[in-house]
Amino acid sequence: MLMKQLILLLSLVTSAIAAFPYDEFNVFDYGATGFGEIDDSQAFLSAWRDACSTITQSARMIIPKGSFLLNPLLFSGPCEPQNIHFMVLGTIIAPDSPKSWKGRDSSQWIAFKDVIGLHVYGSGLIDGQGMHWWDQSCRYHPKQSKVFITHMTKCSSCFQEGCTKLAPTIFKFISCKESTLSNIYLVNSPQTHVLILNSKGFNVDNVMIQAPENSPNTDGIHIHSSHFVKITNSIIGTGDDCISVGDYTSDIEIANIECGPGHGISIGSLGKNKEVVVVENIHIHDSKLKGTTNGARIKTWQGGKGNIRHVTFENLVFDTVDNPIIIDQNYCDVRGTCKEEKNGVKISDVVYKNLQGTSSSKIAIDLNCSKAVPCTGITMENINLVGLQQGRPVTASCTNAQGREIGVNPGSCFNK
Ligand SMILES: *[C@@H]1O[C@H](CO)[C@@H](O)[C@H](O)[C@H]1NC(C)=O
Repeated sequence: MLMKQLILLLSLVTSAIAAFPYDEFNVFDYGATGFGEIDDSQAFLSAWRDACSTITQSARMIIPKGSFLLNPLLFSGPCEPQNIHFMVLGTIIAPDSPKSWKGRDSSQWIAFKDVIGLHVYGSGLIDGQGMHWWDQSCRYHPKQSKVFITHMTKCSSCFQEGCTKLAPTIFKFISCKESTLSNIYLVNSPQTHVLILNSKGFNVDNVMIQAPENSPNTDGIHIHSSHFVKITNSIIGTGDDCISVGDYTSDIEIANIECGPGHGISIGSLGKNKEVVVVENIHIHDSKLKGTTNGARIKTWQGGKGNIRHVTFENLVFDTVDNPIIIDQNYCDVRGTCKEEKNGVKISDVVYKNLQGTSSSKIAIDLNCSKAVPCTGITMENINLVGLQQGRPVTASCTNAQGREIGVNPGSCFNK
């Protein structure tokens, strides 16, 4: 009798193990080819479905060495495991033509949505193959005729007059919590490389992001509507901002970044179309910017509302940067076409501390705040900015900005 019960118990245990043998889900076991020319999307979706629904504490989806061509994909949660790992050892490549986005959301390529405890990492490479998108972008080809229109599902010929404003992001993280992106290499996104959206508790560490200096709107990492985001120990060189902080963001830390080429590390642009801005507790420190158009930048449109406050730029080194320290509260995409407005986004309590290096333009410190809503509570401490060549002095310019300064070279900005 006892023996029988034991056997029953054993068979129950083994069947339980058989039902959930591993917490690992290798895309090769789901039919991925790894050839790089055959679409492996279905295998990835099936592996994700199983990883996401397994009843173990943690699950790992494995993308081994090989080349995996993926069409636009959404990996969505919520998932059963407390932690779900997405380990990329091989190369994931995007379709090289915008045509693959026919009838699909052209803002994304690989998206993760509603996942808690997501960890994307690996020694692999993610290649966005953005060249054809760049060729039809409005930024550099505004008068382009005939481009492929992705949002139309039914059309005999999806080509239309115009240019493309919205191109895919390599990795979009939507509503992810307590998640990470680390130890990974991203190149040539059609547009922004990484977008962190509606997320809370998201760490990016040790990533490398590269796209050509002249590629349009290829921001490295953009954060929007997210809180408690940390970006550390990363190397980013693209055609737009290395990192940009968008609206509805708070408690953001950016540290140990090597940025360049690109447009620098930016807060904004914010307040377009009279939007209400809520951006606070942003700490950017211990980073190096080389050959970028901007260094520490805040930019807002006139007419916006709300606040950008409690921002610290600390321990930054600039090497050949056009505008090392800049606030542009009169931002306008086409110079001279935006009229003066009564409203503006309030910028207050901004600290610039221990910043040094070379400016390639004459105005090394340029705080251009609005007449309607001046910048207040600005602190500049221990700043040393010099021109590229010796004997070419740089200057500081502060308009409608109030604050205090200690040890600022190129000289006083507020008390003129
Ligand atoms: C501030 O920005 C506006 C709009 O771009 C520009 O017209 C103005 O000359 C700038 N002011 C200074 C002092 O740079």
